[in-house]
Amino acid sequence: MSKIDDIRKHYVPRITPDRANHDVLDWAGPDTQAARFEVLLRRVDLAGRSLLDVGCGLGDLAGLLRRRNIPVRYTGVDVVEEMLARARQANPNERFLRADMFHDDAADDPLGGETFDVVYCSGALNLNLGNNLEFLETALPRLLRATRDVLMVNFLRARDAARDPTYFYYRPADVLSVLHTLLDENRVEIIEDYLPNDFTVLCRIGGK
Ligand SMILES: C[S@@+](CC[C@H](N)C(=O)[O-])C[C@H]1O[C@@H](n2cnc3c(N)ncnc32)[C@H](O)[C@@H]1O
Repeated sequence: MSKIDDIRKHYVPRITPDRANHDVLDWAGPDTQAARFEVLLRRVDLAGRSLLDVGCGLGDLAGLLRRRNIPVRYTGVDVVEEMLARARQANPNERFLRADMFHDDAADDPLGGETFDVVYCSGALNLNLGNNLEFLETALPRLLRATRDVLMVNFLRARDAARDPTYFYYRPADVLSVLHTLLDENRVEIIEDYLPNDFTVLCRIGGK
């Protein structure tokens, strides 16, 4: 079975009309989903810029940006078409595309080489797919290829507490060791002040 099949197998049965969005997306609650969005809004000025929301799920970030009146050119991509159907229904004026963002063949890039001022990825690397750490070596360059200025990605954090094998828990050092092969150290920051079991990497690549 391909990784995409594994991702679909996890998420598609969760997409039912009675479930709240955070539950479909498998976040612990609406507040933890929102806490991750707030890291983006707090740290990156989005006004007047283009934003790619990788693994956009139900388009909740697009809804938040609209409610806050932040004038950003939003594009959401997700590999699960059923997610996108609900995202489009809730956000009819936004652009949503089906794409496997981590496809490693640039010639087969679903975005046709389009780049964005800001690329944000919340939760798309959460599932334990058996090779998460080596996969970072494909996923992070793929995200950076689409980024003109700022890349922000969050990860579930490895702590000693009991872990659920459904998910993959990262250590900041593992993510940094891949990023440091791709970018100068001073362009990468770890943010860890918003949830105990999560961290975010912020890469400022503009002005390279
Ligand atoms: C935990 S959900 C988070 C959704 C959204 N970012 C949010 O916070 O509301 C992760 C999403 O990433 C998507 N995803 C996983 N792997 C992906 C890939 N390779 N390309 C695009 N989307 C992917 C899943 O389908 C799912 O909708």
